[in-house]
Amino acid sequence: MEREPLGVVGVGWVGLVTAACFAELGHEVWARDIVPEKVESLSRGEVPIHEPGLPELVAKNAERLHFTTDMGDLLERTRLLFVCVDTPPTYSGDADLSRVEAVLGELGDSNEHALVMKSTVPVGTGRSIQRRRDGVGYVANPEFLKEGTAVGDFMKPDRVVVGANDESEEYADNVEALYAPLGAEIVRTDVASAEMIKLASNAFLATKISFINEIANVSEELGADVREVARGMGLDDRIGPKFLQAGVGFGGSCFPKDVQALKQLAGNSGYHFQLLTAVVEVNELQKRRTIGKLQKHLGPLPGKEIALLGVAFKPNTDDVREATSLVLAGRLAGEGANVRAYDPVAGRKAEDMLAGASIAESALEAVDGADAVVLVTEWPEFAELDWTGEVKKRMRVPLVVDGRNFLDRDKLVAAGFTYEGIGR
Ligand code: UGA
Repeated sequence: MEREPLGVVGVGWVGLVTAACFAELGHEVWARDIVPEKVESLSRGEVPIHEPGLPELVAKNAERLHFTTDMGDLLERTRLLFVCVDTPPTYSGDADLSRVEAVLGELGDSNEHALVMKSTVPVGTGRSIQRRRDGVGYVANPEFLKEGTAVGDFMKPDRVVVGANDESEEYADNVEALYAPLGAEIVRTDVASAEMIKLASNAFLATKISFINEIANVSEELGADVREVARGMGLDDRIGPKFLQAGVGFGGSCFPKDVQALKQLAGNSGYHFQLLTAVVEVNELQKRRTIGKLQKHLGPLPGKEIALLGVAFKPNTDDVREATSLVLAGRLAGEGANVRAYDPVAGRKAEDMLAGASIAESALEAVDGADAVVLVTEWPEFAELDWTGEVKKRMRVPLVVDGRNFLDRDKLVAAGFTYEGIGR
């Protein structure tokens, strides 16, 4: 049986991973983005984002992967359109659906295509589109991939969610069949529930992080070690060990946005989602707690030299959206400190966003003459630095605030460092 080619609209993180992985599964894929430079570089085989394994996958499947700026190409060649455009937060916290609307506009009146919505959209979006566009095929197929492990997450998902309403069940069957080779559990449900599964999953994980961060903060006061606490809690099957790492708060393009969006969505429906208000607030405070830890040891910060290790919101990505580093750099600049930041891949990208900070070319350059090092992102190379030798020699004051409990505290303390972790 000849397989029909698949369309992907929007070639960001989700779109590119989706396109490359479906190509890897043997499909012809047409992917469209409105940014000509992106399409040109992808057509040359250059991947514009830092995502492990993705350049290899794109290269390996180059023959089956086609990139274009022309929506006409997609409409002509494909029937299923995986919509992967971004839905960033508006000022009010609602999701901005203008890019989704633009795709609908480009579809015209044709009902020959079905939209498979991978973008994260408010609950109710699918229904509203179907109401307005009588007869259009619509399948909700939210994405759960994590940046940094996106290819593996796509190929070995915990579950695949496929939501459809009566008139689109046939399209949903097609979508289900596309994922069948992955062998994952398929959650077949209605559109609104599929939309809610996505938002609720992200909101729950964010809640888990804010929860453990609060346990960490209390542990600091009461003499417990949050890593031990998380280990003990995580062995309970009902809790699970993942997403219990205390740190300097969650960032990225998803958790902050989706928590806010769900809160807002609930509010618009007349329900005050109390828990999520706290999740957001705890996260904001967590990002700023580092300042207090620095002041505790250094006193007032004007003129102090602070090295930020890590700019990306987490390791293995060059994404700096909602990264804690940006908030910290801003606060430190506000306190009068001089900040030098280093990130293995995201430094230059973030230059304009790191209020007043300068970008170092290496971790050692960043720590040179520093009164404190703040480790913001747990890049593996930071663990391998020669802390007790070269780093200590270069620093003016051997103070480390380890925002991810990532470094070997005992070794640092034995070498004469003052060490501040999170929740220990
Ligand atoms: C998140 C979800 O994990 C994905 O399932 C989802 O598909 C994605 O959002 C999305 O909606 O597109 P992502 O934002 O790539 O993925 O990153 P995560 O690995 O989930 O990390 C988010 C933030 O939480 C990072 O800042 C990380 O440092 C922080 N985090 C994570 C912690 O502070 N502690 C933890 O234990 C885990």
